[in-house]
Amino acid sequence: MQKTADSGKAANMKEFFGAYSMDVVTSTSFSVDIDSLNNPDDPFVTNIKKMLKFDLFNPLFLLIGLTDHEILSQSMMYIFVGYETSSSTLTFLAYNLATNPEIMKKLQEEIDEVFPNKAPVTYEAVMQMEYLDMALKSLRIYPISARLERVCKKTIEINGVTIPKGTVVIIPVYALHHDPELGSEPELFKPERFSKENKDSMDPYVYLPFGAGPRNCIGMRFANAMMKLAVVQILQNFDLATCDETEVMSIKDSG
Ligand code: HEM
Repeated sequence: MQKTADSGKAANMKEFFGAYSMDVVTSTSFSVDIDSLNNPDDPFVTNIKKMLKFDLFNPLFLLIGLTDHEILSQSMMYIFVGYETSSSTLTFLAYNLATNPEIMKKLQEEIDEVFPNKAPVTYEAVMQMEYLDMALKSLRIYPISARLERVCKKTIEINGVTIPKGTVVIIPVYALHHDPELGSEPELFKPERFSKENKDSMDPYVYLPFGAGPRNCIGMRFANAMMKLAVVQILQNFDLATCDETEVMSIKDSG
C-alpha cells in the first residue's frame, strides 16, 4: 500500500484485502505462509483462484471431489467462507470510510488514543475498541449473505401463520437491514447506531450479517479480529479517500 500511495496512483482496495484475506486463510487453515500480493504466481495462490472460479458442472471438479472428497470439501469451505467474505467486507468498510471522512477521522482518533505514536497493535487492545467495532458493523449496509435459509423441522404456527414441516424458510437479511421501520436512515453509514446506548434497544434479529442461532457463522470472532487488525494498521498509516475511479453507489437506486 505504501508503494501505491507513494506512486500517487489509485489503490484497488479489493486487491489488497483479497491478498490479505488469502494470506490469513492459507496461514491459519493450511499453515502455509505466502505473500500473495507480492507472489501472485505462487502455485497456492493461482490454484486457489482457479478453485474460486469453479464450475460445479466442470467434470474436473467432480473428479477431484470423488478422489479426496473430505479434505477437498473442508478446504474449499474454509477458503470460500473465509476469503471472499472478509475481503469484501473490508472493501465495503474502506468505501464507507473514504466516502465519510469525518467518521474515518474519528476512528483514527480512537486508534491514535489506544496506540499512541503508532505503538505496536495488540489483539487485546484492538478488541476493546468501541468505535472500531461500531464502524465495522457497517456490514449492515452490505451484508455478504443477503439472505439466510432454514428448513422447518416440525410444523409450527407463528403469529397465525402455519409453517409445515419441510418448508424452506428464507430470512431476508438485506431487506431487514434496509427496512426504515426497523432503523432510521438505513442506507446511511452511521456507526453511532451501534453505540452502547442504542445497541440495547435494538432487536438482535434485525442485524444478521453473521446469521443467528446454532448454525450461525463459526468464523465470526476470527473474521472480526482479522478485519479489525487490518483496519487499525491501515488507518495508523494512511487516509482513505475517493478518487476518479471510485464508483459511488446509491443503495436506494440499486433497489
Ligand atoms: C466478514 C466475514 C464473514 C461473514 C460476513 C460471514 C457470514 C456468514 C453467514 C451469514 C453464515 C450463515 C449463518 C446462518 O445461516 O445463520 C456463515 C456461516 C459459516 N461461516 Fe461465516 N462469515 C464470515 C467469515 C467466516 C470465516 C473467516 C470463517 C472460517 C474461518 C467462517 C466460517 C463459517 C462456517 C463454517 C459457516 C457454516 C456454519 C454452519 O453451517 O453451522 N466464516 N457465515
